[in-house]
Amino acid sequence: MTKNVLDITKIPNAPDSLKALLTQLQQEFYVSDEKIDQMIKSLHEEMTDGLKKEDGLLPMIPSYVTGRPTGKEKGTYLSLDLGGTNLRVCQVQLNGDTTFELFQQKFTITKEAKEATLFDWIAQCVDIFVENHKITPDAGKTFIPCGFTFSFPVIQTGIARGNLLMWNKGFTVPNTVGRDVVLMTQDAFMRKHLNVKIVAIINDTVGSLMATSYSHPDCQMGIIFGTGTNACYWEKVENIKKWQTQEGAQPEEMVINMEWGAFDNRLVNLPYTPHDNKLNRKSQNHGLQVFEKMISGLYLGEVIRNALLWLIDRRELFNGRSSDILNGAYSLDTAYVSAIVADESSDLSEIKLIFENTMQISDTTLLDRQVIKNVCKLIGGRAKRLSAAAMCAVLLWRPELLEKSISVGIDGSMYQFYPGFEESLIREAKRILGEEKASRLTLTLAKDGSGVGAAIVAMIVCRDT
Ligand code: BGC
Repeated sequence: MTKNVLDITKIPNAPDSLKALLTQLQQEFYVSDEKIDQMIKSLHEEMTDGLKKEDGLLPMIPSYVTGRPTGKEKGTYLSLDLGGTNLRVCQVQLNGDTTFELFQQKFTITKEAKEATLFDWIAQCVDIFVENHKITPDAGKTFIPCGFTFSFPVIQTGIARGNLLMWNKGFTVPNTVGRDVVLMTQDAFMRKHLNVKIVAIINDTVGSLMATSYSHPDCQMGIIFGTGTNACYWEKVENIKKWQTQEGAQPEEMVINMEWGAFDNRLVNLPYTPHDNKLNRKSQNHGLQVFEKMISGLYLGEVIRNALLWLIDRRELFNGRSSDILNGAYSLDTAYVSAIVADESSDLSEIKLIFENTMQISDTTLLDRQVIKNVCKLIGGRAKRLSAAAMCAVLLWRPELLEKSISVGIDGSMYQFYPGFEESLIREAKRILGEEKASRLTLTLAKDGSGVGAAIVAMIVCRDT
């Protein structure tokens, strides 16, 4: 292990039996520089395979987005952003000077919608928004054009066509996998007599890329480090071997939605631990999205909970006590992990509050709380390093882009709220890419990227057709 890496076994007053278990955890979760380099190599192999085959190792999905915004686009567009927790219906006004105004209404997705009535529920929300904001079609038009950001894997067959590959993030709407998401939404709009037409469907990473491009024309990549994780980037069309080119003029480049959460589904490269396997076995899509399960917000707290329970079962934490809450799957939300890692108080009072009040474990000791903090830092640190490695792998895929200044648009709760996440991306980029290339890299928060990006793509589609 290199010198400046956190050593979680160095807790004063920790008995040797505890130190032995912490050493074991450290060995399992530590990712060496060599491992990172190897991971970058295998991500490249999976990218090559995915660009070649429909059922390649990575999905590498053509997005049909081939035009970049210039920042000069003007007009008002409607967009939808369906994430894991909320639906945002947005009206985006592009001002033509790289700035925009966004009016949005957020609807929390109901359990019933997630499990059954999703598309009719979306139509109902859009109806409310269109009514509230008195939005009508432009003069001479019958429909209000709308861009749709859909944060689940979809195999696109056109800019406004795409079949759902699978659900994740707890969605289980029956009879929808394999079917066209735009048609299902449009049918629901028709049932509600809504004159809104989906003219483009994009992944949320594409939203981040397009929204960032509006103000940063050198943006080459969009990433989500949030509940889930994924990235997209501009690829030369000649490299997308599996894409059947259409007749007529060929675009030079297209955005590829990588679906990198599926990296290493074969379980051969990433540093898995028994705690990851425990989560994977019990999760939706067992054996799929394994990279996502190691780094994203939906899962990080759960891997840590597994490791804490392992210490409890060996009587090295809370003197062997647990609670119904801590025993419950997914009870340690990643938002708590962020608060735990950020707790710098001498008695770790924030951790005390979370574990005694929320998790209902009475009388935690300072040693317990130090152990919790160190385990969170260890497993969260792995997530940060793996996230950075994946970002750098994509940047190294097109090394010529690093000869000039380059921006990456990033959104998501891990990037925004996990302590030290951005610093870690920058630190690792310096190590992996070298100081000179890393100095040309700008990471930009693509705030509201999904809503704005979908509106920009809707605008490009209306402009170019
Ligand atoms: C989905 C991707 C999405 C990512 C970030 C993943 O679970 O498969 O389509 O881009 O989450 O929201």
